Amino acid sequence: DKGGHRHWMAKEIAEQPAILSDTLAHYLTPQGPALPDGVDFADVDRIVMVACGSAYLACLTAKYWIEGLARIPVEVDVASEFRYREPPLGERTLAILVSQSGETADTLAALRYCKGQARILSVVNVPTSSIAREADVTLPIHAGAEIGVASTKAFTAQLAVLAAVALKAASDKGALDAAALAAHAADLARMPALVAQALLAEPELQAIARNLAEARDILFLGRGAMYPLALEGALKLKEISYIHAEAYAAGELKHGPIALVDEHVPVVVFAPSDALLPKTVSNMHEVMARSGRIVMIGDADSLQTGGDGLWRQARMPQGPHLWAPLLYAVPAQLLAYHTAIAKGTDVDQPRNLAKSVTVE
Ligand code: F6R
Repeated sequence: DKGGHRHWMAKEIAEQPAILSDTLAHYLTPQGPALPDGVDFADVDRIVMVACGSAYLACLTAKYWIEGLARIPVEVDVASEFRYREPPLGERTLAILVSQSGETADTLAALRYCKGQARILSVVNVPTSSIAREADVTLPIHAGAEIGVASTKAFTAQLAVLAAVALKAASDKGALDAAALAAHAADLARMPALVAQALLAEPELQAIARNLAEARDILFLGRGAMYPLALEGALKLKEISYIHAEAYAAGELKHGPIALVDEHVPVVVFAPSDALLPKTVSNMHEVMARSGRIVMIGDADSLQTGGDGLWRQARMPQGPHLWAPLLYAVPAQLLAYHTAIAKGTDVDQPRNLAKSVTVE
């Protein structure tokens, strides 16, 4: 039952505040992370994260968190590359496999490659799945069945679990003291309510989407943990609206992609008011100087700083910068959703795609 929504995807986007609260309740207390026995980073000196599609982009986001908070090096790979490259692992390596379905063929093969060579943690939505059963420890994301082919609530629930994992890693490594840990946990606990506020920007995002629907190509930019978010925005848009979209780390713009920029290519920028904002704003100016049309998704402060000369903007609530990816996932999803609606494509069952990719 779509609960009054026109599409499963709309329902699953709207459910996110409630799901994130529930997911975090499983893995977070006011003092810090609460993970099951067997998740211990004390003697882990390297982490490899492996997944496909949006789950891969959740891993890329978590790399910023784990490296930043716990100072453990993290490598992130798409499963189809990892499994055939057969990278060296080791006793002090932890492999983290992330999959909504828990049945993705390449991710399962990557897990089997890790067996006997590294400790294996899985983050899945379906607790009875192959990937859940074959891992040493499994952290369910508790998102409930996801029916829309484009992943939405599973992506943010994966982020929520991986955020708690990052805090646990920082705690085990002694990289954060108790006060800092509790402060980050409190910030994380605020995110479901902030995601609910982000959903209120839907009318602005829908209006922007009507313009995006006329484009043939769209660029997405972000810095820091907003870079994986830009990749997620582009992936979601391609999947359901069939508009060609590409994402770049904003600093890469002048190394090639800026050649694409003209007045016909909208450039969507995810830019909260974090430490990297001045750098992102200068990239936006480079785009504007070439008649590029910027859609800036920011908070009140960053929109104030970067607001001159924007084509369109949408405002997110001000929130903890560390966990901003949870918040900015919402505009990434809603822009894709409403662009697809404007184009009249099949949102819940886009052409050529299957919900679960069980063959390679
Ligand atoms: C994107 C999407 C896909 C999946 C990918 C992995 O919206 O849904 O990219 O994220 O096929 O699937 P799971 O997570 O089931 O392994």
